[in-house]
Amino acid sequence: MCGIVGYIGNKNTAKVLLDGLKELEYRGYDSAGLALLNENNIDVYKALGKLENLREKTKDIINKEFYLGIGHTRWATHGKPTELNAHPHLGEYSYVVHNGIIENYKELKDDLISQGHKFVSQTDTEVIVHLFENINNKINDTKQAFKDTISKLKGAFSILLVSKADPKKIFFFKNGSPLIIAKGNEQKEILFSSSDAPLIGLCKEVVYLEDGVGGIASADEIEFFDDNYTWSSLPSSKQYAQKDGFRFFMEKEIYEQSDVVSDCMLERVKDETTSFDEINDSILDGINEIKICACGTSYHAGITSSYLFERLSKIKCNVEIASEFRYKQPLLTKDTLFIVISQSGETADTLEVLKMAKKAGLKTLVICNVDNSSMTRLAHYSILTRAGIEKGVASTKAFSTQTVTLWMLALYFANVKKSISNEVMQKELTALREVPNALKIEDKIHEKTRRLSKRYLHGHGFFFIGRDVFYPLALEGALKLKEISYLHAEGYPAGEMKHGPIALADPELFTIALMPQNLLYDKVKSNVEELSARDSTICSISSLDFELSDDFVKIQETNHYMLEFFEMLVVVQLLSMEISIRLGNDVDMPRNLAKSVTVE
Ligand code: F6R
Repeated sequence: MCGIVGYIGNKNTAKVLLDGLKELEYRGYDSAGLALLNENNIDVYKALGKLENLREKTKDIINKEFYLGIGHTRWATHGKPTELNAHPHLGEYSYVVHNGIIENYKELKDDLISQGHKFVSQTDTEVIVHLFENINNKINDTKQAFKDTISKLKGAFSILLVSKADPKKIFFFKNGSPLIIAKGNEQKEILFSSSDAPLIGLCKEVVYLEDGVGGIASADEIEFFDDNYTWSSLPSSKQYAQKDGFRFFMEKEIYEQSDVVSDCMLERVKDETTSFDEINDSILDGINEIKICACGTSYHAGITSSYLFERLSKIKCNVEIASEFRYKQPLLTKDTLFIVISQSGETADTLEVLKMAKKAGLKTLVICNVDNSSMTRLAHYSILTRAGIEKGVASTKAFSTQTVTLWMLALYFANVKKSISNEVMQKELTALREVPNALKIEDKIHEKTRRLSKRYLHGHGFFFIGRDVFYPLALEGALKLKEISYLHAEGYPAGEMKHGPIALADPELFTIALMPQNLLYDKVKSNVEELSARDSTICSISSLDFELSDDFVKIQETNHYMLEFFEMLVVVQLLSMEISIRLGNDVDMPRNLAKSVTVE
């Protein structure tokens, strides 16, 4: 959610910053901007929309010499996506880029306006640069002015600030949102970035800044305000994410699921049980309950796993949306294993509940796709999902690897607690090994979703319905559809439709019915019949023919409901994507969204 980059060095500054922003563009693409410094000047360029617009705007100066610069790609929080609201924000002689939210910006802004400062944007960010100049004008000491500025800000913020008052330095601070500082491979080269992707290949040593850590960087030195930092190394080769002939990253990532799930299971599915290098049996010492918190798609993986933790591990498990959990004054007891799930490891609400749980003395575990993310560094234990870089804003392979990881974890706990028989364990392990196959996509399935997409472009809404683990899958199917097609969709427990939503049923209401052969088939069938009797258009996904369906996607017959789960997952992902493509939307960068939500 917003990406920031900074560079001091002898390379082509504008190019380094633009390349860095390209890697961070998934974090927000409402606008982008650069502030570039040379001996005499700060040049600023901003463009609305995707980064290519900024590239176009800067093409004439791309080879101009600058000795440092900062850049930003924005996901709008305060103020509409306009050029004026794009970062960097200017005072009279300084510029700032910011990721996060300044919660007390209103009071600060009113005060600064009363002292004669003129604001041009509607953002919370602009207050930072005015505050800095206000203080610096009085004390004429940029370092102290920056420190005093920080001390007055409330909220989450990662900041890079440059000023003509001290033109060879980048002032930096991290609180809440991620920020990394790196020593470049060349001499006297310093880089900053919101994530390590733009840094790989350009530097070997980095500091993942902790909250509350800031300082001042120049070509000659990096001065930290305190010693709460450690240098660590960064891999030297980049795992580039390319579309490899697919139309969209999302499509490629749907197709990749079979492989990444195999990677995720490597060395973790054994003959008798599952195991993880990252944890041992003592993780369950004193534990009677599991609490899971997450957001969005990761939350859906969490709900799915709650069925498995109770059914297989026989441990009470409940799941909550992180943004709700954090303000409900939850009762946290030490017999609870606190699990957070996050693709990015940076989602603000999830990170905050993790901090709460840790502070309350609970054992914490994160299921995460990004090593060295804020969450993996914070939690007592972390298990990586090994999905590889996920570029599409709509999460796909992150969800399948999270679900498989949690299923393996449920079996691991079942083994520790001896809560299932060997026979059941063997059945589960056999099914697990089959997941990569279930995720392989047959041409005819993709073709079917392509053809179906034509029929589902209108209407007044979609209901995805299912029972048990197919209920969170219904939630996930509906989320995929709405975020990339902008059509209204809801996921609902199949048995709950008659308690209200069935009132909506008519031919223009599309029901996507998840009808697994191996789990509660007859129950779901009755619920779908009730909808069909009220003329809803039914598209069923099942291995069994259902005569009342208007449309039918036939999946392969298997002997385990979780295999049906993964087969159906692919169908709902492809269907959403094909509908989105047919509507002419940008599948990988849907409107109003960003990949990593580092604001609450
Ligand atoms: C939907 C999607 C989001 C994320 C959510 C949490 O396709 O990607 O709903 O799942 O923002 O993100 P992470 O998992 O990074 O914490």
